[in-house]
Amino acid sequence: MKILVTGGTGYIGSHTIVELINAGFDVCTIDNFDNSYPNVLDNLKKITGKTIEFDEVDIRDKYALKKYFSEKPDIEAVIHFAANKAVGESVKFPLKYYENNVGGTINLLLAMQKADINNIVFSSSCTVYGEAQPPVDENTAIPIANSPYGNTKQICEEILSDQSDAVNLHVVALRYFNPVGAHESALIGELPIGIPNNLVPFITQTAIGKRESLTVFGNDYPTPDGTNIRDYIHVVDLAIAHVAAIKYLLNKKYSSAFSVFNLGTGKGNSVLEVIKTFEAVSGQKLAYQIGSRRAGDVVQTYAACNKAWNELGWKTERSLEDSMRTAWKWEQHLKNSEKK
Ligand code: UD1
Repeated sequence: MKILVTGGTGYIGSHTIVELINAGFDVCTIDNFDNSYPNVLDNLKKITGKTIEFDEVDIRDKYALKKYFSEKPDIEAVIHFAANKAVGESVKFPLKYYENNVGGTINLLLAMQKADINNIVFSSSCTVYGEAQPPVDENTAIPIANSPYGNTKQICEEILSDQSDAVNLHVVALRYFNPVGAHESALIGELPIGIPNNLVPFITQTAIGKRESLTVFGNDYPTPDGTNIRDYIHVVDLAIAHVAAIKYLLNKKYSSAFSVFNLGTGKGNSVLEVIKTFEAVSGQKLAYQIGSRRAGDVVQTYAACNKAWNELGWKTERSLEDSMRTAWKWEQHLKNSEKK
């Protein structure tokens, strides 16, 4: 069983490749290295002992995609990660997001249709729920998106749903809450280019001395300690959920052609709790101060995950401590490899 992973050198894609191989799948992958590096492929080989079948393909190039599929007749299913994901950047450059995230998904679906490949797992986000009362389940109404990035995820889900109504296509859309942490080997992890927007890379970069201090964006929210609450899910648990989703599709466990699942731990943690957990597992005192609220942040969110537990037979196994410990190990590995 060969699975194509688009965006396989990215943060979640690379961890998913490891878990697919662990589960006995053959994998091929494409990427354009827009937000990742080729050496991820070497590190995947170190972890799995396998050379990853890789081609540099940009999903905006529909001819390249069609050619790719015509040369790989043994692909059974696709896991589609390749996309841009920075909310702030999407506000400044909306067309970049619509072209790559939406246009790229359409190109992929056209190429899959031509090659008669009927199964796809789509990388979606809890951002589609906006400000909803947690725990958030999959039946929550989807409001108007609050960023072009969020809108691309909503639009892609709609396109996938429409296409699954029209042709023989089976879709699982996975709505991730906040992916954090890294592989135990510390050979792969999140690699933000430039100043990180997300909390955990900012914490580890501050602790290692790359950033002076972390600003906590507001402590006057209506939450127990005044800081925002999120559902932080370990990236390896998230990767394993993709294997479960692929098995769900290939074993035809679905009851409709388009299925959507939340992927989270089901538990919320505040920004201050995350900082405290990081300090406890790393033994580092983190320099931080309280700043003003960041525009667009929702007060609190965490997932209701019963659907994934019941239908995918998947549950998270890793704790926030595991996430912070591996994120820190990864940051230290990056520093050591810079020295070499
Ligand atoms: C963000 C995106 C979301 C995307 C997800 C991918 C926004 C508004 N949302 O989620 O659409 O799917 O990343 O991982 O960008 N924080 C600080 N200081 C910092 C950085 C973050 O206090 O320097 C706080 C934030 O205010 C928030 C929490 O940490 O309360 C988590 O922030 P972040 O990691 O950026 O994730 P989200 O905003 O939840």
